[in-house]
Amino acid sequence: MKIVRTVAELRSELAGCTRTAFVPTMGNLHAGHQSLLHIAAGAGSPVVASIFVNPLQFGPNEDFSRYPRTFDADCDKLRSAGTDLLFAPGVEDLYPVEQRFRVSTPNGLGDILEGEFRPGFFEGVATVVLKLFNCVQPACAVFGRKDYQQLMVVRQMVEQFNLPMSILAGETLRESDGLAMSSRNGYLSAAERAEAPALQAALRTLTDQALAIIGDAGLDAAQRLHRLAQAERAAAHGLRARGWVPDYLCLRRRSDLQAPQATDLQPGALVALAAAKLGATRLIDNLEC
Ligand code: PAF
Repeated sequence: MKIVRTVAELRSELAGCTRTAFVPTMGNLHAGHQSLLHIAAGAGSPVVASIFVNPLQFGPNEDFSRYPRTFDADCDKLRSAGTDLLFAPGVEDLYPVEQRFRVSTPNGLGDILEGEFRPGFFEGVATVVLKLFNCVQPACAVFGRKDYQQLMVVRQMVEQFNLPMSILAGETLRESDGLAMSSRNGYLSAAERAEAPALQAALRTLTDQALAIIGDAGLDAAQRLHRLAQAERAAAHGLRARGWVPDYLCLRRRSDLQAPQATDLQPGALVALAAAKLGATRLIDNLEC
């Protein structure tokens, strides 16, 4: 695996490549990232990964400076997943001057859920992803479904800016107890790690209840929507009772992440999404239903 640091080196390595498959990351790689690389390897060649902890997508009180940086271990994982080229720029390589042109994300998508609780997050993500796409010029790029809203933001950006590439999605990989793999799991204490699967369990309970409510022939649409809202509140309450501080735990339409309407009450239409703090660590997860 070749490692390049600058945009100029990257461009010269990729000159003439038309089938590049790309996996952008912030490093601290786990099996979830490796599964994205396997998807990339099946979709194009060469397989390019990037490691860049993007300051633009972190708020002033977030974990940018303590975000885990594990470059050597990451390189081993990238090699074993068949990565051909790693782009690992420094902040000064990707942002040689202050990045004053930004991708603004649409209201109703970039400012809800994650965007509500992490203002500026999706602008930071969309801006760096567009820059990375312009540098790598891939034929396809792979993103994980764990960052459900990010995947939607990236897909819509690619479509609306007419980028000549496709976006592929990788399923969320989970630990044996159900916890979604995440670089931030490493922040958890032993006691928090033991508690952490409760987030996925709460989503599972909520989606099971949602499917039961949707399928209940004795309820009209208004009653179903009312019951869905009750189930959301009960799920958040349950997490709070276990010591979590949920930012959101809700059912949304898969198509646009808006609150469900009467016409959305069918299996396959919804997704439950959650973000919650356990101690100092904020975890996110989602489950389609
Ligand atoms: O999902 C991530 O790791 C990051 O948000 C991404 C897409 C690499 C952009 O910095």
